[in-house]
Amino acid sequence: MRILLGITGGIAAYKAADLARLLTNRGHAVRCVLTEAGARFITPLTLASLTGESCFGANPDHHEWRPSPSVEHIELARWADVVAVAPATANMLGQAANGLAGDLLSTLLLATRAPILWAPAMNTAMWKHPAVQANLGRLEAFGHRIVEPAEGMLACGEAGAGKLADIERIADAIRAVGGERLPSLMGKQVLVTAGPTCEDLDPVRLLTNRSTGEMGIEIARALRDAGADVHLVLGGGMASPYGMETVRVRTAAAMMAACADLWPRMDGCIAAAAVADQRPLQEAMEKVKKGDGPETLELVRTQDILLNLGMQKRVGQNGQWLLGFAAESEHHLENASAKLAKKKLDAVFLNDISTGKAFGHQDNTLTPVVAEGPQAPLGPLPKDQLAMALVAWWAERVGSI
Ligand code: CTP
Repeated sequence: MRILLGITGGIAAYKAADLARLLTNRGHAVRCVLTEAGARFITPLTLASLTGESCFGANPDHHEWRPSPSVEHIELARWADVVAVAPATANMLGQAANGLAGDLLSTLLLATRAPILWAPAMNTAMWKHPAVQANLGRLEAFGHRIVEPAEGMLACGEAGAGKLADIERIADAIRAVGGERLPSLMGKQVLVTAGPTCEDLDPVRLLTNRSTGEMGIEIARALRDAGADVHLVLGGGMASPYGMETVRVRTAAAMMAACADLWPRMDGCIAAAAVADQRPLQEAMEKVKKGDGPETLELVRTQDILLNLGMQKRVGQNGQWLLGFAAESEHHLENASAKLAKKKLDAVFLNDISTGKAFGHQDNTLTPVVAEGPQAPLGPLPKDQLAMALVAWWAERVGSI
């Protein structure tokens, strides 16, 4: 992706160097544009060194405050796949909201046809001021996207909202805003389940599994980047990605309830959660004391969420699609095909766990299995790329049905 990173004059400008490096390391082409005030906090040399590209706009290193020479603003505006302003001051938000073009950055913000993302950072009172909020509303009405500032201790000594969002979150938002849309998934409502579930035995003990939730979260991100409207039902403690409604759940029953609530409004679902198949018959309200003799734990089955969604699946016109996983250590194809049929799935992704490639392992391979049989395997790839490959595979297949 070609990312134009605008940096305006706030103390958080120093974090833009890390953001530029992070984006460059992830394989993006990054060009920075500094405002005059931004260049008082961070130098063009720093940014050019980190990105391997020229830094545009104000350049005090060369003892000049450059106006925009020739048609630089148009060339940069056309070059970008996405424009991100981080940090964005109240001043720059105000200029852009009102169509003012006083320097290179504000001019190219008007000239570009690329999507625009703002990562504001300022004092809490400024952030909450109706003028700033009205400007943000105006920018959103133009189709711009915002990555909200975080709460915390601010450089001015106050605590509250206004801290530049975490750079990982800004990078995630840039992906979401600038990602390549896939026509068959654009605007579709898609449910994704991810992460482990936890079943409490008593106030201090629980039954869970080793799933991190990373694969499901990466699938949710890839669907979002493709233009789908993602509804994530998430177990475990991982942060919710940018730009999707997330319902946090703890138990299999809570995950089932959240999914049942969403499913009728969905076009499709990818179930990647590692749902506990059993829960304790009883949850003790007080910590259970150890006994003298042998002890047994009575378990009961939880509901199979995917099976339930399959039973409720709409078919025919306006039909829904449903994809699941099959983690198998033996009789792989046989078991995966049985799950496909039993749970009324459109595809099942077979994950061979016999070779030790289970939870938390980096590179993984998935074999899509559909009614006609197994398809070409996806991977081996790291989870983020595997998720993109999975979504691209499904987008092509669902687009041709
Ligand atoms: N799944 C679910 N609800 C459950 C159990 C599993 O929605 N209670 C979903 C998972 O998210 C996954 C798929 O079902 O997409 C398959 O999970 P897996 O554990 O491989 O298989 P099971 O159906 O539980 O069957 P088995 O334990 O017999 O392998």
